[in-house]
Amino acid sequence: MAFPERFSNLPDYAFPRLRKLLDTHAPGGEPIAMTIGEPRHPMPDFVGPTLAAHLDGFSVYPPNDGTPELLSAIAGWISRRYGAELSPDRIMALNGTREGLFNACIALCPETKRGKPPVVLMPNPFYQVYAVAALAVGAEPVYVPATAATGFLPDYAGLPAEILDRVTLAYLCSPANPQGAVASAEYWATLLALAEKHDFTVLADECYSEIWRTAPPPGALEVAKATGSDPERVFTFHSLSKRSNLPGMRSGFVAGGAGGMVRIRQLRAFAGAPLPLPIQRVSEIAWADEAHVTANRALYQDKFREADAIFSGLQGFSCPEGGFFLWLPVEDGEAAALKAWQETGVRVLPGAYLSRDVAGDNPGKGYIRVALVAPKEEMQRGLIRLRDCLYGRG
Ligand SMILES: Cc1ncc(COP(=O)(O)O)c(C=O)c1O
Repeated sequence: MAFPERFSNLPDYAFPRLRKLLDTHAPGGEPIAMTIGEPRHPMPDFVGPTLAAHLDGFSVYPPNDGTPELLSAIAGWISRRYGAELSPDRIMALNGTREGLFNACIALCPETKRGKPPVVLMPNPFYQVYAVAALAVGAEPVYVPATAATGFLPDYAGLPAEILDRVTLAYLCSPANPQGAVASAEYWATLLALAEKHDFTVLADECYSEIWRTAPPPGALEVAKATGSDPERVFTFHSLSKRSNLPGMRSGFVAGGAGGMVRIRQLRAFAGAPLPLPIQRVSEIAWADEAHVTANRALYQDKFREADAIFSGLQGFSCPEGGFFLWLPVEDGEAAALKAWQETGVRVLPGAYLSRDVAGDNPGKGYIRVALVAPKEEMQRGLIRLRDCLYGRG
């Protein structure tokens, strides 16, 4: 039986790979999971009652694009957060951003660019769906290092013109998973100008946008508006998973230029899974409410302060500007993850499981990713054990 060749070199997904690494060894203490980016703060109070009030919505097929009420709630949020006014035809509800990040690539990536195979840019390390999406459309994924030397964001402008001229799409994650770097307004403006110059589209993964340390990260839509960029150059992806602690509800949206949105909507009308109606009702309320988001952010900000105190003085450590991961420098991420598990019971993810080898170099190899999602006391215990185990007592 033949299978597609284009997926044959994919590594195992990070979490089965981690289980293979750790699960044949006993934990050295009470297990503490700091691997997956699954929020564990409470979900908002209105979820249960709203779902209950709209249960009958499960008996009908939901509207593909999102109900008018949901699209209007999202447009209101975009306007308040980014000062950009988008008509509903420029927004579509998603079953979480992951499927949107995948489907948008299928909908927007042409088969060739200037007669050559297309290139899709992504940071390295990165959220893994970007690479699979590029491979699915037969594009060449180009993994661009996002390291301490580049401020943990990819330097797309530094690529050779020969590559840039083949680029159809560029993914950018801000705040970045895993490093927590935030793209400044200047960074976005430079990227949008590069997209204009080389005729490509930016897919902005901003699902951590509401979890920040000192100031709200500037958004792609906000910068596109301020710089007067062509609206077709940028599509942004947002989610309730992190903002509202609802990862299991699977609710997000994509917003961008009207022309590209027609393509995304068309593809999802045929092949997408629309968001169940009761979930659309809950989402509508979630996008309209900021109080729960502010309270959630305060919990993370408290955790950032705690992490700062625990790791202060550690060379190469900087607490994230946004998101909820620590990206801790170690000699070898796999060895460090195994040591932490065997000696302390803390589970963390080797950085290399989120990045690719390029020319023999893997920018994630010397890191572990630590999720700050557990309740504060548990997180504190985990971080102190990690510090003592991997870096010697503080
Ligand atoms: C960078 C990044 N993008 C997208 C997603 C997908 O989020 P969701 O599909 O839950 O909206 C995640 C989830 O962990 C993520 O870390």
